[in-house]
Amino acid sequence: MIRTNLNPNDLDKNLLHNLDSYIESLEDPKGSLINVLHRAQIIFGYLPHNLQLYVSRKLDLNAAKVNGVVSFYSFFSEKKTGRYVVSVCMGTACYVKGSEKVLEKCLDLLDVEKNEITKDGLFSIKDVRCIGACGLAPVLSVGEKVYGHVSADMVEDILNKFRGEENDS
Ligand code: FES
Repeated sequence: MIRTNLNPNDLDKNLLHNLDSYIESLEDPKGSLINVLHRAQIIFGYLPHNLQLYVSRKLDLNAAKVNGVVSFYSFFSEKKTGRYVVSVCMGTACYVKGSEKVLEKCLDLLDVEKNEITKDGLFSIKDVRCIGACGLAPVLSVGEKVYGHVSADMVEDILNKFRGEENDS
């Protein structure tokens, strides 16, 4: 049985402090749920249930509403991810232009299954629904960076850019 941790006390205090500072800087925290979740995901790397609960209490919102938003948007993740999340759009426009081959190439090069984290912890790959950039189909994103008109042959160079960033840091 999978147990869900609903205890916000288990969250890293320093990271929470960071999130609190962001929330306190907002004019309308309650009306900024998506922004708060986005920031929380950047800070924690993903949105586990206890973090969602923390956000709902902090913003005085219903926990089910917060979870509904997290589940609806494909850029939010409830599972731990690699440092860089590679999202391949499998919406209709991208699919007909070959995004399946792009996804296969990603999985092949990184030697993982979908939603798994690479051994070095750098990448995880997921397929997503339309991200609203159909004119650029097929589309792949890494974190917040979006790549359009991507072919399977371009995947290695794209991934290497992020490996390079890692080596430079
Ligand atoms: S179908 Fe891929 S961006 Fe719309």
